[in-house]
Amino acid sequence: MTTTIIAIDGPAAAGKGTLARRLAARLGFDYLDTGLIYRAVGMKLARAGLDPADIPLAEQAARDLSPADLAADDLRIDEAAQAASKVAAIPGVRTALLDFQRRFAAFPPGGKGAVLDGRDIGTVVCPEAGVKLFVTASVEKRAERRLKELQEKGLGAIYGTVLADMRERDERDSNRAVAPLIPAQDAAVLDTSDLDADQAFAAALEIIGPKR
Ligand code: CDP
Ligand code: CDP
Repeated sequence: MTTTIIAIDGPAAAGKGTLARRLAARLGFDYLDTGLIYRAVGMKLARAGLDPADIPLAEQAARDLSPADLAADDLRIDEAAQAASKVAAIPGVRTALLDFQRRFAAFPPGGKGAVLDGRDIGTVVCPEAGVKLFVTASVEKRAERRLKELQEKGLGAIYGTVLADMRERDERDSNRAVAPLIPAQDAAVLDTSDLDADQAFAAALEIIGPKR
């Protein structure tokens, strides 16, 4: 068992990124948001007016991905999330992106340890991770959080639409044939429905404590 890799999985807006960043900062580990990788592949196609569900094109985009693509400024928009979950259902895309993620986990830039968040870190990317958290929350709470983020960015959004998008993505991510969104057998489940970011961080430290 290695304790230098922390795997955080769960559905959209469960609080994975917030928690992962805080844990990485506390422990002096490096952080990789693996969703960003899928968003970058999806947006390569969407930006060119191509269908992110097109298998050969998506596989090619995944093979061609470079670190610079992760810095594009349109990766946080909703279109990127939907495009990401389409390319993410293609097995060849996932295979092409595995090496990059595993290398980051095994050789984090700072040399101390890595926190990765996504959907399949504990199950597929780093099944050997010493700490696995499955962070979740009710779909209604997650839609409320996403709506608040959009409103704070000055983007008009309607709760019903955000909720429907969230359900559509949950459905696609949970039911795909490869690397579906499910907790690893040895993951600790952390439900943040009634926890703010501070409380979720404290709960995670309590779970991790005995493992470190
Ligand atoms: O990475 P993921 O999509 O799982 O979620 P996030 O980006 O960490 O969090 C989504 C939003 O929920 C952010 O605006 C957080 O500030 C907020 N949040 C929250 O309200 N309560 C938590 N326990 C964690 C995050
Ligand atoms: O921030 P949010 O939770 O909304 O999404 P994200 O983590 O950026 O992921 C976007 C999409 O990429 C997800 O809906 C998944 O379909 C896909 N993804 C994945 O399949 N595997 C991962 N390890 C990370 C993301």
